[in-house]
Parts: sequence; C-alpha cells; structure tokens
Amino acid sequence: MTSLLHRSAVVVVALMFCRPAPAQTTHPFGTSREANVHNALADAISEQKVEALLQKMTLEEKVGQLVQYSAGQPTGPGTGRTDYEDMIRKGEIGALFNITTARQVNAYQRMAIEGSRLHIPLLFGLDVIHGFRTEFPIPLGLASSWDPELVEQAARVAAREASASGVRWTFSPMVDIARDARWGRMAEGSGEDPFLGAAMARAYVRGYQGSRLDAADSIAACPKHYVGYGAAEGGRDYNSTEISEHTLRQFYLPPFRAAVDAGAATLMSAFNSLNGVPASANPFTLKQILRKEWGFQGIVDSDWTSIAELIGHGIANDGAAAARKAFLAGVDMDMASSLYHDNLTQLVRSGQVSTAALDEAVRRVLRVKFAMGLFEHPYADETKEAAAMLQPESILLARTAAERSFVLLKNADFSGGAPLLPLSKETKTIALIGPLADDRNSMLGSWAGLGQPEDVITLRAALTQKLGGERVHYAKGAEIIGGSDEQLAEAVKAAEQSDTVILALGENAAEMTGEAASRAHLGLPGHQEQLLEKIVATGRPVVLLVFSGRPLTLPWALENVPAVMATWFPGVQAGPALLRTLFGEANPSGKLAVSWPRSVGQEPLYYDALSTGRPTGDTDLTHPPENGDGKYVSRYIDEQNSPQFPFGYGLSFTSFRYGTLEIDRKQLSAKALNEGLHSSGQPADAVLNASANITNTGTRAGEETVQFYIRLQGTSVAQPVRALSGFQRITLAPGETKRVTFRLGPEVFSLWNDQNKFAAEPARVTLWISPDSSRGAEATLQITN
Ligand code: BGC
Repeated sequence: MTSLLHRSAVVVVALMFCRPAPAQTTHPFGTSREANVHNALADAISEQKVEALLQKMTLEEKVGQLVQYSAGQPTGPGTGRTDYEDMIRKGEIGALFNITTARQVNAYQRMAIEGSRLHIPLLFGLDVIHGFRTEFPIPLGLASSWDPELVEQAARVAAREASASGVRWTFSPMVDIARDARWGRMAEGSGEDPFLGAAMARAYVRGYQGSRLDAADSIAACPKHYVGYGAAEGGRDYNSTEISEHTLRQFYLPPFRAAVDAGAATLMSAFNSLNGVPASANPFTLKQILRKEWGFQGIVDSDWTSIAELIGHGIANDGAAAARKAFLAGVDMDMASSLYHDNLTQLVRSGQVSTAALDEAVRRVLRVKFAMGLFEHPYADETKEAAAMLQPESILLARTAAERSFVLLKNADFSGGAPLLPLSKETKTIALIGPLADDRNSMLGSWAGLGQPEDVITLRAALTQKLGGERVHYAKGAEIIGGSDEQLAEAVKAAEQSDTVILALGENAAEMTGEAASRAHLGLPGHQEQLLEKIVATGRPVVLLVFSGRPLTLPWALENVPAVMATWFPGVQAGPALLRTLFGEANPSGKLAVSWPRSVGQEPLYYDALSTGRPTGDTDLTHPPENGDGKYVSRYIDEQNSPQFPFGYGLSFTSFRYGTLEIDRKQLSAKALNEGLHSSGQPADAVLNASANITNTGTRAGEETVQFYIRLQGTSVAQPVRALSGFQRITLAPGETKRVTFRLGPEVFSLWNDQNKFAAEPARVTLWISPDSSRGAEATLQITN
C-alpha cells in the first residue's frame, strides 16, 4: 500500500510538469485559464513523499537543496570552491552543473546517494542550447526555420544525448525577445517577435521534457532569462532595462508564459535590472506574475552569480542582504554565488526569512527531483553513453535543420541570365574564399555544448568531396579579424581562375556572438569588406554566405553581389546543408526572425513597433528631407526607417503568389470576444476564419511560411503597426495552389489595455496574409461594442 501511494505521488508530481492540452497553448497572450490548470494540478497532488522528506531535514540540509555550483568548466567569475565532495556528503549542495560525462555525474551522484544522510539525489545541469554533441544551428537559425516541430525534434535529440551523459537539466530555451542586433545574445534566442518566440519556446520545452519528465531520456527545461534581459540599453550585455508593465506583458512575457504553460520545470532569473529592480530580486515579476498569475510550480534558479550581483547593482550592501532580497523575491536556487550557502541558515535563524518560505522553496526543488524520477533512477548508464551520440538520424536532422535555417536574402541574375542560385551542376570551377569556409569551430556556434570541431563538415570539405580538389580553388583571403596582403592576393587569383566564387564571410562564433559579445559596429569584421570588394572587382559571379549570430549591415554587398544568403552558424552539418542548397537539392525556405538593419543607427529595430503621431506612412523617404514635406515626421535625416529586409522575409528558388484574403465575418463584438476569452471552448461568435490561396508560380517545389498579421486601431493603448498572429509552413509543387486558413480566436483580437488587463475592445482591425511583415493581401473588419 505504502509503495503504491508513493508511486501515485510521483506520477502526480510528474504530471505538473507535463504538457497541458494543446488547445490552451496556441496563443501566448492567454488569460488566467491556463494558470488555473496548473493550480488545479498542484491542489490535487499528493505530496506525501516531499513532505515526509522535508520533515526529516535539518535547516542546513534544507538550505543545501537551494545551493548550486559549477563543478566543471566555469562560464563566469568563479567561486573558487573545490570542497564539493565534503559539502555533498553533508547535504549542503542541491545541484551541480558543467559536468559532462556519465562517469563524473555518477561519481558525484554516488557521494550524494551513498554518502549523505538523506540520500537526496543531485540535479545535474548544463547549457545544452542547440544540441549536446550533435550541434544544430544556433537558436536564431532554428527560429528562422519557422518550424516548431523541427525545433522540438532537435531539442529531443539534445535531451537524448545529454541525459545519456547524466545531464538531466538544460539552461534552455533562451526566450528573451531581442530587438537590438548589437546584443550578442540575440544569437541564442528566437528573435524579436513574441508570437514566434512563444511557438519556439513551447517546442523546446516539449522536446527537452518529452511526454514524461521521469523518462530516462527527458531533461528539465529552464526558460531564461526572466525577464527583459534582451532589452539591455544600447545592446550592451548585462545592461539595465526600462520596460513599462504594458510592454512587458505584451512583448517580453509571452514566450515565458508559453514555456511555463508547456510545463517547464524550472526557470532562470536574469542579470539585468528591470525598472530599477534587478530581475533576480524582483517580486513583481517572480511572485506576482510568475507564481500568482501563472501558477508556476517549478524551481526559479538564479543566473550565474546574479544574486551576488545585487551588490553591484546597488540594492544590497553585503552578501546577506543580497541573499535575503533574492530569496524573498522568489529565487529558489543560487547558481554559483554561494550566498545562500553562506547566509540563508542565519537569515532563517534570525527570523529575517521564515521557515515556511524556506520550506516552500525546498519543496519546489524536491518536487522537480521526484518528478524527474531521480530518487528512483539517480545514475546514468555509462555503457549506453557513447552510442547515444551523433546517431545517423540525429545527423540527418541536423542537416535538415541547417537547410531550413538558411535565409536567402538576394538572388539576382548575373549579366542578364537566370538568378545566380542555384548553381548549375555544370559549373566547372569554383573559388571558395573566406575565413568561414573551413572554420569548424565557428560552424558549431556559441554555447556549443559538447560539440567537437571534428564532428563538423565544413563547406570546403563538402564542396571538395563533391567536385574534386581540382575544381575547387580555396583561399582563406583574410582572417575573421586581420589578414595579410598575400592572403588577399591569393584569393583574387583563386577567383580569377574560377567560373564562380563562393564567399564565406562573417563573425567568429565564439568571440563575437553569444554572451558578453555586444558589438557597436555591425559590418563585416576586420578586412572582410575589403576582401569582398576585391573579389567582386574580378568580375566573377559571386555568392555571398553570411555566417553570423545577428544580422550584419551589408549595404555595399547587397548592392553589388548578386546572391546573398544568411547562414547563421549551421552546426555539424554546415557543409552538406550548404552544398545541397547552393546546388538546388534543397530549396531555401528560412525567413528572418529579426529585422535586418541597413545601418547600426537604426537599432533597436523591430517590425512590431507603435506608430508615432507623425508616421512617415508608406513613403519611406530615401533622401534627406528638405524643409517642408516630409521633414517633421518621425525619421532620420540620413537613413531610411525601413529595414534592409523585414522580419519574416526570405526568398526561395521558386516564387509564390498570394491570392485575396477572405474573411468569414465583417464584424466581431468586443462583448463576444471577452466572453470567449473566459470560456473554456471557443464560441463561434468569437472566432474569425481568414483564408487565401497560395500558389507556387515557379518551376520547383518549395516550402513557404505563410504569415498572418493584425493591427488594431482605436484602442485604449496604441497597438503595433503589425503583430504576427499566426503562421503555417506549406509545401507546394510547381503550379500547385493550396488554400491556407487561419482560425483566429479571441486572444488574437485582444490586448493589454490601459488597466493592464487582457481584453478585447472596440477597434478597427486590419489583417494581412503575407510572405513577410512588410506587405501582403489585406482585409479589414470592425470590432463593435
Ligand atoms: C548565462 C546563462 C547560463 C549560465 C550558466 C550565465 O553566464 O547568462 O545563460 O545559463 O551562465 O552557464
């Protein structure tokens, strides 16, 4: 009987971090409906096992569950600690991270299970960001696929590999909205849009956590960095943010909400201050929104030393004050700063932190450990570890993911013929030039987990294998930063000897993208612009591949190079995926997840901006305004407002025609929509169907991501000029037409109003079905009272 009871407790705890019904997770701006689902589960669970354990714990052991250290490669300023073994045996550590092999994990776990009084297992974490050993494209690349199913599968592969090494917790997905390409961490997330970001957030969580968190190959997700981190002023990492509650709720919170609703077991609090209050000591976001409104039951983990950084921020004058503020604001676990270890016991003894609050945080940690089955299966199977890595299906998926991540920005003809891409199979000789053509390290991207350079097939390797060494003239041309005249001359010679040139230029993944890699200049680094111009001057047709963790400003290239493709950092299958795309075996279908700037002065740049009282309208003036018309509008005098390429943009080797947008009603009522928001089903009068025919007008099969946008006008709070509210990826054979229908529920027509309540209001509505955020087939309707 007892064991049965225990089992059911475990099962019910596990349920808390499972997926809720999909119908309730399709829109990120939901009401309290989903939070109730969580609360209901929480109320119903039998927590006997958690309680029984808690009763046995000393104060020190309780605090120990909230302490986390990096026992491997540090990713930030270290704590200098080496006495983990002793601390584990005393029950003073709850979690470790940066340990990457099953053998090491098991050794530490044995200390906890066999050596500590209560045998509580440790939780082992790692930054598994876009793959563990099989590296996929960086998250910004994955987001450019607009393919959540693919992302879910990639996250599943990462979970299988990581768990085989004993890592059962990843600090991913990064769901920070990133509107500023100067911020290096844009590479780690899903871009600028809350709707796309929410879809990707759900996909990662599902992929990592699988259908059961206690399955041996599931890992706990940790959406991060909560919240507002991506809005760092000036794009400078770790910088302050000022975000109104309205903007926070409408743009920055939805991907977190989506991850929580998808069942994320943990969440990470951020480094930045938000409206003056650091995110790792912010009771409004952590307690009011996350716990109360959303019903989040999982662990809140601090980012690396973000508790200690409360001193740097200036809201705590010593470690004890920092620990107290973070804890009371709702941070359960202290990553790396050791301030909970050093201070929490005393804070409880002195009554500054209540035992009840401490117990609640400990319960959350224990619940996750039970939910993951760690008490029953604490060890990794070392005999299965090696075989789990780089399985053929995983590598194939990495190639597909890379192909879908590429965004074809430009594909013009060269000297009056057909578009330059795809390259003809008859191409006799190719010059492959550039510092990224054969750079295995950069192909892995930043935060490459256990990805090894030797796992990577570069473009040079793939091309040489396909065409044979005599037909490929390779020259590095320049370093990513730096280079010599000889390198330049050699590259020009290689170009002159060849029919076609492929230029592989861009950023160094490890140093110029990711954490602490903000840039004030967004052009090609080093001598690469010079290299580009010299190669184009040879008169050969040039294909430019841009490897980067952000959009780069490339005005000259986009004017003078016929074919340009954004390739991000594609992962282990970079070479094969590029080769198949360049020669047309794969047809590019990626679309930008971020607006591509013309110049750095436009940043922050994002499509879902508000209109000003003085918009430029459709005429995005190219020339400096003269006195009079066009001067007193919201614009620069020396740059256009519009991006070089809009959010959602991407070309294909075929072309698509968008038919008229048809909607099945001309009016909706705010009353019906608001009732719809709060009812469990979706009443018919709170739903709009919008359809259009999409035709492949070219001669190749292709995939298109059909996008749906909305604008509301006349509302209590100004709404974006467009907001993504749906997307569908479709495959079309040449000449084929498909009818695409979007079923739009009440959430789509609602907004965070002037009372910060999510509700529908009377409005004029403009709808677009379109290939990107700048155009499309339009329809209008009214929302009446
Ligand atoms: C980063 C986090 C990461 C953590 C642990 C921090 O520096 O901001 O994103 O998860 O380190 O490695």
